[in-house]
Amino acid sequence: MKTPVPDYLDEVLDSLRNDTSGANADYIPELAEADPERFGMALTTTLGRTYAAGDADTEFSIQSISKPFAYAAAIIDRGLDHVLELVGVEPSGEAFNELSLEGDTHRPKNPMINAGAITTHSLLVGAEASQGDRVDRALTFFSRLAGRDLRVDERVCASELGSAHRNLAIAYMLRTYGIIDGDVPSVVEGYTRQCSILVSVRDLSVMAATLATGGIQPVTGERLMDPGVARHVMAVMAAAGMYDAAGDWLTRVGIPAKSGVAGGIVGVLPDRAGVGTFSPRLDSHGNSRRGRLVFERLSRDMGLHLF
Ligand code: DON
Repeated sequence: MKTPVPDYLDEVLDSLRNDTSGANADYIPELAEADPERFGMALTTTLGRTYAAGDADTEFSIQSISKPFAYAAAIIDRGLDHVLELVGVEPSGEAFNELSLEGDTHRPKNPMINAGAITTHSLLVGAEASQGDRVDRALTFFSRLAGRDLRVDERVCASELGSAHRNLAIAYMLRTYGIIDGDVPSVVEGYTRQCSILVSVRDLSVMAATLATGGIQPVTGERLMDPGVARHVMAVMAAAGMYDAAGDWLTRVGIPAKSGVAGGIVGVLPDRAGVGTFSPRLDSHGNSRRGRLVFERLSRDMGLHLF
């Protein structure tokens, strides 16, 4: 027998299926070819119960949704003070692929834009870490957050690396300012592999629920970060997770969130739940169009707006 929550989630997806506005990301050829009709969502409570609807087990590349979780790992590995010396916490008000460096320090404005995320990826593990070490750290940490073994989609990774000129340009600028060290193409390749990790909305909802609990994975019971780290990451998601639409999102939806160009969005309600949505067509800010509509519905119907 069905419980009312999945029925409600099915109804939300059905009511939004006819919205076909927006378009798949096209600067990564593999993403341009993804089935644009895929549509799924999942919600995991802080008690570890997951409710899902639609294409809830379809895998897609995590892309920019990796950024808050890699940021948490960088803080754990290197300490908040060190990370803050190199990456700020201010909304950039610009697109995700703008350089957006602070004028005086040359820090990327926040870890949610590409410049900040390339920097946080470069900080993983420690100063002497290799690209393999950093990618392993991301993969292992994300797998523990999701509660299952995740893997990199090599096709998506190769597809993005074939046209990663802009991220290379950003990373070379960061290198000239001493924000990142080492071999630039290797750092960008590692970051791109991190973005190519495959997840489902079910995984995203559990990963976000781990932030919502203050760092305890609600299904396995494992503590994966201190409450202060989870709080810091959620706050930065609220300020900058939706790029130049962050203020509009926070006022209308009121749920700290992060989007990815494959069409995923993750949202986190402190002390309550994690939410994941997937639909590949994006709006002009690079955020999933139908994903946004799902979050607007949930926020309104279930009173999930934080304010
Ligand atoms: O670095 C990039 O451009 C991609 N790997 C990720 C960008 C992304 O997901 C932006 N989000 N909406």
